[in-house]
Amino acid sequence: MTKADAEKKHRRRDHIPLALSAEIRPCVRGDLPGLEWFGQFTPHRRVIRDAFRRHERGETIMLVVDFRGAPIGQVWLDVPKPKSPTIGSLWALRVFPWFQGLGIGRRLMHAGERLLQEHGARCIELNVDRGNAEVLRFYEHLGYQITGSFADTFNYRSPSGLQRAVQLDQWVMSKWWPDPDQAGPEPGRGVASRKS
Ligand SMILES: CC(C)(COP(=O)(O)OP(=O)(O)OC[C@H]1O[C@@H](n2cnc3c(N)ncnc32)[C@H](O)[C@@H]1OP(=O)(O)O)[C@@H](O)C(=O)NCCC(=O)NCCS
Repeated sequence: MTKADAEKKHRRRDHIPLALSAEIRPCVRGDLPGLEWFGQFTPHRRVIRDAFRRHERGETIMLVVDFRGAPIGQVWLDVPKPKSPTIGSLWALRVFPWFQGLGIGRRLMHAGERLLQEHGARCIELNVDRGNAEVLRFYEHLGYQITGSFADTFNYRSPSGLQRAVQLDQWVMSKWWPDPDQAGPEPGRGVASRKS
């Protein structure tokens, strides 16, 4: 084999066209270890489990994207509370890095918005870390606007029992849907208070 032939052989690429299918569904207990994403979110184990307890009580809805049994994406929804029955919030949206840019995040957002509307929400709020500015465009494409800011300390305990504190410095973003019967909620109330 000549040197040129050898170089040509090494340049050869085999392309595999893949048609993949994933399902958006409510989280079940068996998803919880997978939601730690091979250790990336293991420090948040208690946060995930606390959210799952609220999910079981119906206060929060955890949606996951199930790809062959692995939760490759998620969004958590706080359904409207009696004191603000038209405001829902949405947090902890993420898509596993290798699956980003395929339209999964947008589909998750639409699924979450639909569910919150079914629970009476006419306004959905979410928080974005100021250090995550590029994701603003993602939400703006989906119709969200910056309506306020939020600063707080988020405290949680790691699986090894260490108390952790994260300083939150975030934008609050909101999106509204027309309600034919009511004037709608006042913009910029900023109820979302989660680490997103
Ligand atoms: C943000 C995130 C959930 C988007 O999910 P995704 O599956 O990659 O997004 P999609 O493929 O559905 O993209 C939908 C649109 O948003 C755009 N978009 C996606 N991520 C973007 C980003 N970070 N900045 C700007 N635009 C973005 C896409 O180009 C696409 O545009 P199009 O509709 O014109 O084609 C994902 O990138 C992610 O998990 N990021 C890390 C966690 C994170 O930052 N979560 C948000 C916390 S507030």
